[in-house]
Amino acid sequence: MKEDTYAIAGNPVAHSQSPFIHAAFAAQAGQVLAYERLLCPLDAFAATVCHFAAEGARGCNVTVPFKFEAHALAQRLSPRARRAGAVNTLRFDGADDWFGDNTDGAGLVRDIERNAGRRLPGARVLLLGAGGAAAGVLGSLIAARPAEVVVANRSPDKALALVDSHADWAAQHGVRVFARALDDCGSGYPVLVNGTSASLTGAGVPVAATVLAPGALVLDMMYGPAAAPFLDWARRHGGVARDGLGMLVEQAAEAFEVWRGIKPDTAPVLAALRSRMTPP
Ligand code: ATR
Repeated sequence: MKEDTYAIAGNPVAHSQSPFIHAAFAAQAGQVLAYERLLCPLDAFAATVCHFAAEGARGCNVTVPFKFEAHALAQRLSPRARRAGAVNTLRFDGADDWFGDNTDGAGLVRDIERNAGRRLPGARVLLLGAGGAAAGVLGSLIAARPAEVVVANRSPDKALALVDSHADWAAQHGVRVFARALDDCGSGYPVLVNGTSASLTGAGVPVAATVLAPGALVLDMMYGPAAAPFLDWARRHGGVARDGLGMLVEQAAEAFEVWRGIKPDTAPVLAALRSRMTPP
């Protein structure tokens, strides 16, 4: 490999916007690097990424369904990756020295606070889901010091386990964190984050519209058609709908900084990505 090379490792990866985003960051920073798509067979994530690293690559982003495997592979972990139990960014510092980080939560918080202009300190936040997506962001949501975070999930025991695993972190930040069932998760939240995959199964929105305060920010971590049902519901019920594209660009910027030591300006890249993904 001639230039510093990175990739998005996952299955599938054909749809990934990460190559576009990182090419834009590199151009902005005046850096020359390559960013590829690395399709990993479902039973061969470790072998595929090890081969990529052995060829001289410098790191990779990791997406579904390999974030937990990436967590297990990294010899060193950032505190936020350890809390999330998942890694979305690997930096290959040496043959047996991989640094694993998780930039998803920081990306979400930055998108809510900076791009959507909502204040999290003191707010009540409802987080739907207790799978990988929700686990990846809960620690960062807590660190933003809302008054409370309620984690509501179809399987309440999973919500409870996720909340329990963050109890000390929440106490350190003076944040109340609760686990609830979807049909008993309170009302009037100014911020709702959807980390479920309910839309993908065509199941519809799993909570009542009373969860929304007037003008609530409703953010689906997905984007494109997958986010549409949830965001349509939000608009119909007076919410301000936001897809996961801003989070995607912000988590990528954090990853770029982990690799390159430079924090890119995300605004022009998000604007370019939106216009690229909007049908003419
Ligand atoms: P991801 O990595 O995308 O988070 P996951 O770990 O499989 O994927 O988690 C999917 C999440 O969406 C879970 O919280 C799941 O609820 P359960 O824990 O009860 O399985 C939630 N989910 C999936 N389909 C759903 C539906 N039809 N209604 C409500 N929640 C759903």
